[in-house]
Amino acid sequence: MLRDTENTYKRIKIKELKTDSSLIDQEVTVKGWVRTLRLQKAFAFMEVNDGSTVSNIQVVLNNSLSCYEELTQTIQTGACVRVVGSLVSSLGGKQAVEIQAKEVEILGNAPADFVLQKKRHSFEFLRTIAHLRPRTNTFGAVMRVRNSLAFATHKFFQERDFLYLNTPIITSSDCEGAGEMFAVSTLDLENPPKNESGKIDFTQDFFGKKSYLTVSGQLNGEAYALALSDIYTFGPTFRAENSNTSRHLAEFWMIEPEMAFADLKDDMDLADDYLKYLIEYLLNHNTEDLEFFNSFISNGLLEKLSHILETPTVRVSYTEAISILEKANAPFVFPVKWGIDLQSEHERFLTEVHFKGPAIVYNYPKEIKSFYMRRNNDEKTVAAMDLLVPGIGELIGGSQREERLEVLEQTIRNQGLDIENYDWYLDLRRYGSAPHAGFGLGFERLVQYTTGMENIRDVIPFPRYPQHALF
Ligand code: 4AD
Ligand code: MG
Repeated sequence: MLRDTENTYKRIKIKELKTDSSLIDQEVTVKGWVRTLRLQKAFAFMEVNDGSTVSNIQVVLNNSLSCYEELTQTIQTGACVRVVGSLVSSLGGKQAVEIQAKEVEILGNAPADFVLQKKRHSFEFLRTIAHLRPRTNTFGAVMRVRNSLAFATHKFFQERDFLYLNTPIITSSDCEGAGEMFAVSTLDLENPPKNESGKIDFTQDFFGKKSYLTVSGQLNGEAYALALSDIYTFGPTFRAENSNTSRHLAEFWMIEPEMAFADLKDDMDLADDYLKYLIEYLLNHNTEDLEFFNSFISNGLLEKLSHILETPTVRVSYTEAISILEKANAPFVFPVKWGIDLQSEHERFLTEVHFKGPAIVYNYPKEIKSFYMRRNNDEKTVAAMDLLVPGIGELIGGSQREERLEVLEQTIRNQGLDIENYDWYLDLRRYGSAPHAGFGLGFERLVQYTTGMENIRDVIPFPRYPQHALF
């Protein structure tokens, strides 16, 4: 960081001012947004935040400052300012350092009725001003945690020699086979071309066939894992499921590692190591943010996160999980019996009541899982696993993939999918097939889990969900 005398006018981020003691008694420049301005008799105290850290820097304006009157009359909450002054150890108890201002410039003022005054706003309200909410403590902290989790993700996989792969966003295959895809088309919606049988003629569409936004990069990821051994994707995915819940978005980011020569156990090991690595990274690098969440958003968060590092993640088979739920005698809305898809109430019971922490459930009934999962020898289950966490439910979903051509073809047909669309995917089994496995982690659910934020719409900069694609 440049800060010799010549560069006094280069700004220094508030995070650095607060942590680098060599800056004390030096002249510094900060730039940021005013959170509050409090007038005393001979002073004014201005709290400035630049997003580099959750806490503000206190700027002391002395009435001997030129333009003191004008500045203190003019500056409003929300204004953007440049401050030059000396960094001094603070006399007040609350902060270690403050700035004695020598010069204050208003870069962009705000009106007195600027919406983000110093008071609590509901997250629902802040969603309606998603372009301004990053100016609040909570959203600043969420985005710093999100950034760290993204960086730690790359670090984790790169340290293990996984290649970062960019898979396509526009696709014509439905990875999950669940038909929850957004169509991509340049046809005139009002007047689409029709074929002889009166249906829309997609051969005239931009890609010459029906195309969609991807729900997952997995199938493309498999092609590269079966050549480069270990890959991971980290990109946006889209689901047109009409789920108005606190855990679903229409546009979310997913991390999908895929490993050649790996089975379900390797997959669970990777998921477990990855989650612990991320949490450890946050505890070491985002201490202030996590303390903020611990105090204001989710009591006990720090303890919860540390506990995960200290305890091995529970692993139970689906069959065992069902038997736990059957014995639970809990008033479930969806009755429990072998074969059902676990509902959120069941997942929550397992993690919140029974195991009191994250749990991996594996070997699910084949009927409720995707076509690409490897069929187990019992002919009833597939080598799938979900990592469930308290408060959220499924954070990770993964499986060993079906590497046997005939079995895979049969499943695609049985599930009523159009085998033509999967011809290239079947090639991967025709030419040098290998056992392989992978998983997908929902990035926003991870941010939710590690911050304790209740709603997934509040952990992505501009959330997309039914009826909402604003900003
Ligand atoms: O379980 P899912 O559907 O798995 C897949 O897409 C596989 N192709 C992954 C793989 O094996 N490579 O989704 C994976 C994760 C879920 O566990 C969940 O965390 C998240 O993606 N997820 C969502 N997150 C936010 N909003 C939604 N609508 C989500 N749907 C899934
Ligand atoms: Mg899943």
